[in-house]
Amino acid sequence: MLSRPTPPLIAPSLLAADFARLKEEVAAIEHAGADWLHLDVMDGHFVPNITFGPLVAKALRPHTKMPMDVHLMIAPADPYITAFAEAGADHISVHPESGPHLHRTLQHIRSLGKKAGVVLNPATPIETVVNVLDLTDLIMVMTVNPGFGGQAFLSSQLPKIAALRRLIDESGRDIVLQIDGGVTAKTAPAVLEAGATCLIAGTAVFGAPDYAAAIASIRDAAPALPPAFSASPGG
Ligand code: DX5
Ligand code: ZN
Repeated sequence: MLSRPTPPLIAPSLLAADFARLKEEVAAIEHAGADWLHLDVMDGHFVPNITFGPLVAKALRPHTKMPMDVHLMIAPADPYITAFAEAGADHISVHPESGPHLHRTLQHIRSLGKKAGVVLNPATPIETVVNVLDLTDLIMVMTVNPGFGGQAFLSSQLPKIAALRRLIDESGRDIVLQIDGGVTAKTAPAVLEAGATCLIAGTAVFGAPDYAAAIASIRDAAPALPPAFSASPGG
């Protein structure tokens, strides 16, 4: 299956923002056309970097209408899920390696009324999510090793993205396929061609002088639609 006809969702990662001006940065990307706000939560244990916790999410919640897309890079994740839900997260995504019971964790996220996501590290196989698709609203493919922004895109992950596209389509489920790490206007076309529907980008947005132009350049990197999608409605 090739890419979807709709433009991809763009979720700028706050990791690359000016941390002294978080409220202004969030307002700026919302004004610039961002769809979701991606929040990278790191604990210095599961990944070798530390960022912020639920208090920062809670502080930003009143200042944006964008859904908050929380990416937990912490272990264990389970004890903190309720806090992020109460802080106003809309989506909560976990790495399967962060706890022993992925199924239970996804159930917990859903029970709090939030969308549940599974994040696959570069070495994590797609089989990890096959048996929990019924509890999964988002699948995030890491195209860098988690922990830092500004790393080089791992094109080795493209076949995995395409395989997940097929898996999601065959399931008939409404699951968002997200890509995280090294996304730029240059790497986006291959990712979209492989079937991603949401692109997370830190450096490529917050490192650019014009956020609106940066977001548009990533969104518009969509590959040409195959003939089937160009057909008239019902065709
Ligand atoms: C990495 C994070 C990503 C990353 C994206 O651990 O999950 O969200 O910050 O940043 P760029 O776009 O700079 O790779
Ligand atoms: Zn992330």
